[in-house]
Amino acid sequence: MARLVVIDGLDGSGKTTQFERLGEYLSSQGTSYRQICFPDYREPSSALVKMYLAGDFGGSPDSVNAYAASSFYAVDRYASYKRFWEKDYQSGMLILAARYTTSNAIHQMSKLPRGEWDGYLDWLEHYEYDLLGLPRPDRVAFLDMPPEVSQLLMTRRYDGDEKQKDIHERDEQYLKRCRESALYAAEKLGWDVVRCAVDGKPLPENRITQSLIKLL
Ligand SMILES: Nc1ncnc2c1ncn2[C@@H]1O[C@H](COP(=O)(O)OP(=O)(O)OP(=O)(O)O)[C@@H](O)[C@H]1O
Ligand SMILES: [Mg+2]
Repeated sequence: MARLVVIDGLDGSGKTTQFERLGEYLSSQGTSYRQICFPDYREPSSALVKMYLAGDFGGSPDSVNAYAASSFYAVDRYASYKRFWEKDYQSGMLILAARYTTSNAIHQMSKLPRGEWDGYLDWLEHYEYDLLGLPRPDRVAFLDMPPEVSQLLMTRRYDGDEKQKDIHERDEQYLKRCRESALYAAEKLGWDVVRCAVDGKPLPENRITQSLIKLL
């Protein structure tokens, strides 16, 4: 049985939606589990991430280099692990995470030239798992919702108000680059790619949940 299961995907790919549905499924099965979400926006450990996403270091994702931005997200995970879920993880409880170290591979690696991707992935895993001591995921499901579809879903979520999107969300070109890096990381690190749209239309939420349950 996997202990740390990660659901990741581009912005607006349906992570929160599927995370909640999987939680309901696990509860209905009587499985004890704990859900964790990154960034941990409710906690002060996410301060640098918030500043970055609000554009305090510059209005484009590329204003902060891949390694610096990755560190912002990594320390937030470290704080969450130490404060909230280390004990449960150590006791063997199933931990379900929405986003994780994997999000750095998706959103930060994309800032680097392809020739540097392998070096970045080696650095990322060594830094977060070996040096910081965060647990390695046992399974990673990447929700593959094409950026042109997720953009529409996010616009709908924000009621058509484009200004509510953060510096990642509003940049469709950047999200397309992120999809490339995600598929590269998925192949290299053995993530499960879950197809979430067909012919430019999102699949029904319950179909995606069924695919995830099979993976679990
Ligand atoms: N399969 C689906 N079909 C149609 N709409 C969907 C589907 N999955 C999610 N949505 C809707 O799309 C929007 C984005 O979904 P959600 O918030 O779950 O994505 P997310 O990956 O958590 O996004 P973010 O990275 O911004 O937190 C929501 O309004 C949600 O209700
Ligand atoms: Mg979400």
